Amino acid sequence: MEAKELSLVPEMNCMRRSFDLNAPENFFTTPSTTKNGIENVYNHFLHRDSDIYITTYPKSGTTWTISIIEHLMNKVPEKGISIGMSTQEFCVWLDRVASRKEWRFIFSELDKVSDRRFFKSHASVGLIKHPVRIIQCIRHPLDTFVSEWHHTRGKIQIYYYNGSWHHFFSELVMKGKNEGGDWFDYHEEFFQESREGKIDALFLKYEEMKKDNAISAIHQIAQFIGVESYDAEKISRVTDFTKMKEKSSQGYINRDGNLSDGYHSQDVGDLNTPSNAHIRKGIVGDWVNYLTDEQLEIWRSYVHTKKNSCPHVVDFFSLDYLLCS
Ligand code: A3P
Repeated sequence: MEAKELSLVPEMNCMRRSFDLNAPENFFTTPSTTKNGIENVYNHFLHRDSDIYITTYPKSGTTWTISIIEHLMNKVPEKGISIGMSTQEFCVWLDRVASRKEWRFIFSELDKVSDRRFFKSHASVGLIKHPVRIIQCIRHPLDTFVSEWHHTRGKIQIYYYNGSWHHFFSELVMKGKNEGGDWFDYHEEFFQESREGKIDALFLKYEEMKKDNAISAIHQIAQFIGVESYDAEKISRVTDFTKMKEKSSQGYINRDGNLSDGYHSQDVGDLNTPSNAHIRKGIVGDWVNYLTDEQLEIWRSYVHTKKNSCPHVVDFFSLDYLLCS
């Protein structure tokens, strides 16, 4: 097989951001989540009212949130970290497994699950079947983008992308062409639907979770999913960054349900060196080591252009916080 060339256009799928035929075609997903997969879920998956989706903009703390839920539900994988690739996992990445050619069989297997079901998704709210209950962890956009640059550059065999941070920021992020698409629009749509009562959502802040080692998030999640008996202190300890990093060195569960040996480098990377570690650095405010003064000004102007069309996002974080002032 011919080796694929690296390029400045990451391999991704682009689709309409909702099922409305007038919706703009500007929503980007990882190459293994396809439009067909998303349509399969929407048209053929047998949803249950009790299902809960962990739907996040990529690189916002999805794996951390899911790990907390695994502990609350006593469904922790014996070894390694779950990222929802296989149908044997507790929290399956639904759009992604639905993009596989054996999706009908996968749906029939998921239909046999008698316990409460949890699914991971990175789809925009318009691509998710309603009504739906969701948990969403949201992170400061600039830290999210830095993490996403490492993810897109580091996982070369998925994205075939070789752009610098500067290229990623100006040519992808600022044009809404990175995975997840425009960060403001993605979140505003969820907030809007939550306000209108179309979805039942629990929104969490990554930065707040970092502040108290997720104690308050653990209580909020437990209440949202109806778990009464749990040890928040213990769950906080076993899901903290160091513990999850340690566990990630055992591997990630791959699509066959086995542990894979990728994505657990100890190298956190820097501006010139992408890292493919999934549980990579896990800190708040690292964007200062990436953005130039000029990029920060571009970002601030961008925030100003979005603040009127995305008021709920501004409410959630505050304008100053988004402007990094
Ligand atoms: P960094 O790349 O900034 O380190 P997702 O799971 O949505 O893909 O998000 C991945 C990001 O969450 C990575 O950010 C990863 O290190 C961070 N993360 C994962 N587990 C974490 C934890 N227990 N505490 C803090 N951050 C965590």
